[in-house]
Amino acid sequence: MTTLFTNIQTLVGITSTSKLLKGEEMSKVQSIDSAFLLIDNGKIIDFGPQTDAPLRADKSIDAGGGLVLPTWCDSHTHIVFGGSREQEYLMRLQGKSYQEIASAGGGILNSAKKLRDTDEETLFQSALERLNEVISYGTGAIEIKSGYGLSRESELKMLRVISRLKDVSSAEIKSSFLGAHAIPTDYADRRQDYIQMVIGMLPEIVDDGLADYMDVFCDQGFFTVDETDQLLQAAAKYGLKPKIHANELAVSGGVQVGIKNHAVSVDHLEAITQEEIDALLASNTIPTVLPFVSFFLNIHYAPARKMIDQGLGIAIASDFNPGSSPCGNIPLLMAFACNGMRLLPEEAFNAVTINGACAIESQHHLGSIERGKKANFIITHPIPNLEFMVYRFGANHIKDVFLNGKLQ
Ligand code: NIG
Ligand code: FE
Repeated sequence: MTTLFTNIQTLVGITSTSKLLKGEEMSKVQSIDSAFLLIDNGKIIDFGPQTDAPLRADKSIDAGGGLVLPTWCDSHTHIVFGGSREQEYLMRLQGKSYQEIASAGGGILNSAKKLRDTDEETLFQSALERLNEVISYGTGAIEIKSGYGLSRESELKMLRVISRLKDVSSAEIKSSFLGAHAIPTDYADRRQDYIQMVIGMLPEIVDDGLADYMDVFCDQGFFTVDETDQLLQAAAKYGLKPKIHANELAVSGGVQVGIKNHAVSVDHLEAITQEEIDALLASNTIPTVLPFVSFFLNIHYAPARKMIDQGLGIAIASDFNPGSSPCGNIPLLMAFACNGMRLLPEEAFNAVTINGACAIESQHHLGSIERGKKANFIITHPIPNLEFMVYRFGANHIKDVFLNGKLQ
């Protein structure tokens, strides 16, 4: 059944080749003013100027003079968790650092305790609520990590919850196994035992189709470069590619070990050297930056401006999680990326659409307006342009979200 969308003020984010946009390409967004969009069977089949619109379709929908944009691809989140951590937020406002709180048993270990005490159904329902919340902001694809389990039982519980979210949601979901998020306290003196436990879970996880990627928190006070290498090499034997956390707290060597192991992306990069930027330029690994973390932890922003100026293609993700970024609102994230990192709205837009899709390897069916791609798109309230959406930050510009051609 064909559905024709008319009265589109501007159709934004058209591509003809689905590949990572790099350097200067990131500032270009292709669009058509006064456009139509035709979908059929959950896919985009045609679009163009309103004057070329087909005369008939099975159904017609008036877009109300809004913009039509592809839905966001949020390539890094932790939306499955057992409880919020606003007490730690207060501690940080009173002067404690994220690392101090973490080494006193807060942070990821606090989330692991909360997760252990939450039953699977409650975990699923709360994650589904968060997922539906971010869909209402326009997210149509999302990567979700485990990593608050830190035991065989709890990690599997998280992965099963992500798998159930895949079954029930119209959003496209990719799952990453982040058993190596932190060393649990009872393994503090025997790190290798914990690492072997994580590696030992891989056959079951892969057999049951519970993960698409392997993640490791390679950073000061968490996992070393050698440990990360060991974990990623083990995952590769089971066909799991890396998407890793690197260089949030310090220059960790995580970028190089990620590239060495053919990581799809290395994420965070608040601390990054020129040498690492050069290594990324010579690789296929996508640098992913997380502006909400810089805002919320009050640390400096990843030098995304410099990275793009030197020719890199970056993705931007929310990192929605209870500790360092309790927010999954992508339009707001774009505003933070522009202000905090000095990006142009077009660069931020490409970083959360086509480049975000590349960072979860979904660029051939998501991330832009292209014939044959999934009919995943947003209709905004009538606003003048993309720049206005970012400039008028905090307002709700999203009117309707369609996933696989269906209104959410
Ligand atoms: O991406 N950096 C490591 N992990 C997560 C959040 C950890 C937390 O719960 O505090 C992140 O920031
Ligand atoms: Fe993260």
